[in-house]
Amino acid sequence: MTTTTDQLTIAVIGAGGKMGMRISNNLAKTEHVVRYAETSPAGRERVGAAGREVIDSAAAVPGADVIVLAVPDLALGPVTEQLVPLADPGAIVLTLDPAAAYAGLLTTRDDVIMGVAHPCHPSIFLERTSKEEWADTFGGIAAPQDAVAAIESDDAGKKSILETVIRAIYAPVIDVHWVTVKQLAQLEPTLVETIACMIGRLLNEALDEAVHTMGVPEPAARAMLLGHTQVALANGLRGDNPSATPA
Ligand SMILES: NC(=O)c1ccc[n+]([C@@H]2O[C@H](COP(=O)([O-])OP(=O)(O)OC[C@H]3O[C@@H](n4cnc5c(N)ncnc54)[C@H](O)[C@@H]3O)[C@@H](O)[C@H]2O)c1
Repeated sequence: MTTTTDQLTIAVIGAGGKMGMRISNNLAKTEHVVRYAETSPAGRERVGAAGREVIDSAAAVPGADVIVLAVPDLALGPVTEQLVPLADPGAIVLTLDPAAAYAGLLTTRDDVIMGVAHPCHPSIFLERTSKEEWADTFGGIAAPQDAVAAIESDDAGKKSILETVIRAIYAPVIDVHWVTVKQLAQLEPTLVETIACMIGRLLNEALDEAVHTMGVPEPAARAMLLGHTQVALANGLRGDNPSATPA
């Protein structure tokens, strides 16, 4: 079991999925030893096409410092039931969404540390300076983002190892914010799925009304809405106040 963060052994389970491919692309650029496991034929093909060797999950887990479970949330129960018993004492099992951990659906062990880390995606106020940063809406390629994480251990060494892996899989990362599993489980459904997504949908419906009920030409309505949305969000969230700016 590694005690420094220089060269970790990391197992990616579900390496051919959406998150599995993203985080594998980033881990492949590091000095860490990475093992890739994937069950579906299409996923195995994607891992192979990226030039990475697929091994069985049962072979990937023993000896790994960190086991990243990039499998669907519904599979996390059976996958942890199968793989957590195979982990070395002191290993960290990292899930990428807190719902299953918070719902108590994961198989755990006293000597295996459970962690969760969710990417925040690049901020709307990020100062993007390159075309690559502008194109990277999701994050994990060029645009810096934060991540929010939880770890069920007081061991500073384990936290440091987990932060190293989080910074690698979601790179480039500005900050890792530590919260509880419960707080992490509350954050996305409330702030994001309920509020931010609803406001996005509402803006879209307002645009549709302006175009189809009021008869405003779409380019005019879009231009008015998108520019003023930027101002409204800057005023509301960053505290900008254009009227306070000296003329
Ligand atoms: N997709 C996103 O935008 C996103 C963002 C943040 C977090 N997450 C989280 O990441 C995790 C993965 O989500 P995803 O969207 O990448 O899912 P996905 O369905 O795209 O990929 C999951 C992969 O896991 C593989 N798999 C399933 N069971 C397996 C097993 N027993 N062993 C090995 N591989 C197995 C599947 O074949 C598939 O390739 C989930 O916890 C999800 O909540 C997803």
